Amino acid sequence: MATLLENPLRVGLRQERVPEPQILIIFGASGDLTKRKLVPAIYQMKRDRRMPQEITVVGVARREWSHDYFREEMREGIEEFGGGIGSDEFWQDFAQGLYYCPGDIDKPESYQKLKAFLAELDGKRGTRGNRVFYLSVAPKFFPEAIRQLGAAEMLKDPEKTRLVIEKPFGRDLSSAQSLNRVVQQVCKEKQVYRIDHYLGKETVQNLLVFRFANAIFEPLWNRQFVDHVQITVAETVGVEDRAGYYETAGALRDMLQNHLMQIFCLTAMEPPNSLDADSIRTEKLKVLQATRLADVHNLELSAVRGQYSAGWMKGKPVPGYREEPGVDPNSTTPTYVAMKFAIDNWRWQGVPFYLRTGKRLPKKVSEISIQFREVPFLIFQSAAQQASPNVLTMRVYPNEGISLRFEAKMPGPDLRTRTVDMDFSYGSSFGVTSSDAYDRLLVDCMLGDQTLFTRADEVEEAWRVVTPALSAWEGLTGPASIPQYEAGTWEPEEAEHLINQDGRRWRRL
Ligand code: BG6
Repeated sequence: MATLLENPLRVGLRQERVPEPQILIIFGASGDLTKRKLVPAIYQMKRDRRMPQEITVVGVARREWSHDYFREEMREGIEEFGGGIGSDEFWQDFAQGLYYCPGDIDKPESYQKLKAFLAELDGKRGTRGNRVFYLSVAPKFFPEAIRQLGAAEMLKDPEKTRLVIEKPFGRDLSSAQSLNRVVQQVCKEKQVYRIDHYLGKETVQNLLVFRFANAIFEPLWNRQFVDHVQITVAETVGVEDRAGYYETAGALRDMLQNHLMQIFCLTAMEPPNSLDADSIRTEKLKVLQATRLADVHNLELSAVRGQYSAGWMKGKPVPGYREEPGVDPNSTTPTYVAMKFAIDNWRWQGVPFYLRTGKRLPKKVSEISIQFREVPFLIFQSAAQQASPNVLTMRVYPNEGISLRFEAKMPGPDLRTRTVDMDFSYGSSFGVTSSDAYDRLLVDCMLGDQTLFTRADEVEEAWRVVTPALSAWEGLTGPASIPQYEAGTWEPEEAEHLINQDGRRWRRL
């Protein structure tokens, strides 16, 4: 019998509708994101016929680029970071829809000029007044850009105009609340797309299907069977050339409050009533409302930060964070953060969730691992018959997939056990590698589907959870106040202690 759940999942998670003709206006278009991700994603989507023929992109930034210069930059981006240009004829046609409009974020005349230009493009390209404004500027400019768009009445039509805001959304709870107020003054929540590209990743979306389209896992997904959960997002890269932004953000604001907490929500939330955007977002909100740092009175037992010092990566020496170009030599910005969350509800009471993320770690790897309880009584007594607890791992990167670790008898006359894995891998099961997260999210936004975007109350609640750590760390000054870890090693000792104190260990990945 087809279950009621089957159809909505199929329809909701993979709709093949094509958005209406529209203009994507990217503020901060001379930055990396436009060239590396956004325009290559639009190009690929158009090649896959998931974008309308009329799709038009207008880059906005301070630099005085011409349309042709912008087109050339984007072509390089598609060649280097996207799936390549393919046929030259296709590129020429796409390039006709790429424009550049120089402007200053704080100058009303820039918005007037842009507004007139967009109206002109509507006539020329047939884009019918449909617009997506994408803020890919430094977070400190978000409020100004939104106010100016409001003053120029460019977000007035709730049916035809949308606003995409990159992360981090605010620096803490109060700045997120005031940014939400600015947003609410100029547009309606249904126009707002707070983007978190982790939600566009295939494996992250698969969490919903895995949990709610299979009957056998959900009964185990609770305090009765789960010992603890670990969520890891480890990177090998350092700060690169982003010191200007990163110095104001750090690992907590750049990664944990958004990417890791979104994964956390999808792992821990209750089943939603349906797959519509608000059902899912309400369940995510509810789990956040029940979440706190495990021990706020002894903060070092539930929140640890660290910063990489000089070390070795792939056999080459790399500088410490404080020696990176543009970084304050006395900086206390964390490049690593680990937290232990407790959830006060029936499902998860007493089950800790450990989250960690860092730069310059030995491997690029992201995963969620559900560690089950030990068997209640071990009938196998010898060392050769030890039983390790079962672990279910959802691999977000690399080798996207899911594996279940369990014990098996080794062949032979003796009763010896060994840990083995049952494995599903996207690559081998579906014969495709998963597409870039931005593809999916841009199409969803243009279709008006907010499921994979964060709602105002959700983002505020996520800030509330991490506020005790933010406030405590703000009070600690001086370069000695932040633990160091050598580039190319896993984490500072303090982070080991955070989990070891509970008789558990970080997974070695
Ligand atoms: C971005 C952060 O949001 O995510 C970067 O700003 C980080 O600092 C990146 O490197 C990681 O994304 P991914 O998709 O490569 O895991």
